[in-house]
Amino acid sequence: MANMAPSPDAKPLTLALAGFGTVGSGLGHLLEENADQIRRRSGRSIRIKHILVRNLLKARQYAIPEGAMITRDPETLTDDPEVDVLVELIGGIEDAHDLVDRALDHDKHVVTANKALLAEAGDDLFLKAEQRNLILRYEASVAGAVPIVQALKESLAGNRIISLMGILNGTSNYILSEMTTAGIEFADALQQAQRLGYAEADPTLDIDGHDAAHKLALLIRLAFGVNYPCRSIFVRGIRDIASLDISFAREFNYRIKLIGQVREVRDESGVPHLEAGVFPALVQDTFLLARVGGAYNAVRLDANASGPMFFHGRGAGALPTAGAVLADILAIARGERPNNTGYVNGELPMASIVPSEEWRSRYYVRLTVQDKPGTLRDLAGCMAAEDVSVASMIQKSQIRNLSEGASGVPLVFMTHETSARAMANALMRMSDGGLLEEPAVFHRVL
Ligand code: NAP
Ligand code: HSE
Repeated sequence: MANMAPSPDAKPLTLALAGFGTVGSGLGHLLEENADQIRRRSGRSIRIKHILVRNLLKARQYAIPEGAMITRDPETLTDDPEVDVLVELIGGIEDAHDLVDRALDHDKHVVTANKALLAEAGDDLFLKAEQRNLILRYEASVAGAVPIVQALKESLAGNRIISLMGILNGTSNYILSEMTTAGIEFADALQQAQRLGYAEADPTLDIDGHDAAHKLALLIRLAFGVNYPCRSIFVRGIRDIASLDISFAREFNYRIKLIGQVREVRDESGVPHLEAGVFPALVQDTFLLARVGGAYNAVRLDANASGPMFFHGRGAGALPTAGAVLADILAIARGERPNNTGYVNGELPMASIVPSEEWRSRYYVRLTVQDKPGTLRDLAGCMAAEDVSVASMIQKSQIRNLSEGASGVPLVFMTHETSARAMANALMRMSDGGLLEEPAVFHRVL
């Protein structure tokens, strides 16, 4: 489709909407609720012609918009010459890839909220869109309603980004917040997040950190203009976070958050490399990131001209996400030109990657040990042997919340900055020396 600036009597923009679940039905609702605003902002109306679903008979959160035809046949959407834009909200990778690829082949612009698709299998789609001069927009795929994609692509284009960290998964943040403030168990909090429409169809993507890693891979592309393959991102989720560690963290004035982080580190010759990971971390109570609760997301970045910046908003849910999808559709309705990756050449170079064992950080370490003379000396010896320096320590005399059958007392350390390799080696020494009653628990500290 050619790019044209709309005139007041421009013809409606015609959408084919793939998916009418949480986000898709939210979009249908917003298109009706904000119809006047849409016309004022784009000079034309927007209508949905086709809706693709798997189950034609399923009850929907919002009604099927008037005039839209519902189908199970993807080609009805991609092959209809009247359709201007395919909106992909089915999720997953394979079917979504086929759908988007075929839509581009049929000269449709594309809007998607699918971070898994773009992060794992998006390269050829970006390339095809560029070659065919089509728009591929994806604001909702990272941090829901928070306009971080547009900010990195356009508003901050005059900056060099130095580092970026954030809370990128609403479901995990909701679970950790509920465990911290309401004392709710992990499994119950996950169920609530699913009921509220925050979780992925496969919620292991949320709790094991892979959804946040997909978003981080997209942010890295936008911020640094390089390809950082998802498989190279260090990922650790929140499945094993224990209430005991949440309450110990509180005693040190920290909260546990699932963090996605990328930062540039320069070697002795000044050559820049990137380290990127998703992991639970202790965040100091006074940091804004620690205050991000529920399904909210946040991104904090540092850039060479602007300095630090903080973005905050709803990271998941029907209407917050649909609002971001609609903004992308409006940009197309206004006749904007493609700027899909934020860089003029869609084929981006590979990132130079720092191995995760070399990252430096402070650590929270919880050990379960026998309460007997000499234990502390032996533990300190293991740390000293790996050059890990302890900043503070608490010991609890009572035995609580340990695994069934385990004996011993919890001993909690905060270390000074050390490498991940040194930390792992010190813990290995303790385990090999028979000092630990249970496997050690350790998290980075921001
Ligand atoms: P959802 O509630 O599970 O809805 C998916 C919809 O797609 C359903 O209508 C489903 O049909 C349809 N569908 C799925 N696979 C299909 C297939 N192979 N062929 C045809 N139709 C198919 O998912 P969602 O939460 O709306 O998420 C949609 C996308 O937005 C995902 O990529 C997700 O990662 C992303 N996203 C979601 C949120 C959020 O808060 N939920 C936020 C940001 C981004 P049936 O209804 O008939 O089953
Ligand atoms: N499942 C995702 C989350 C949806 O919880 O953040 C938003 O991308």
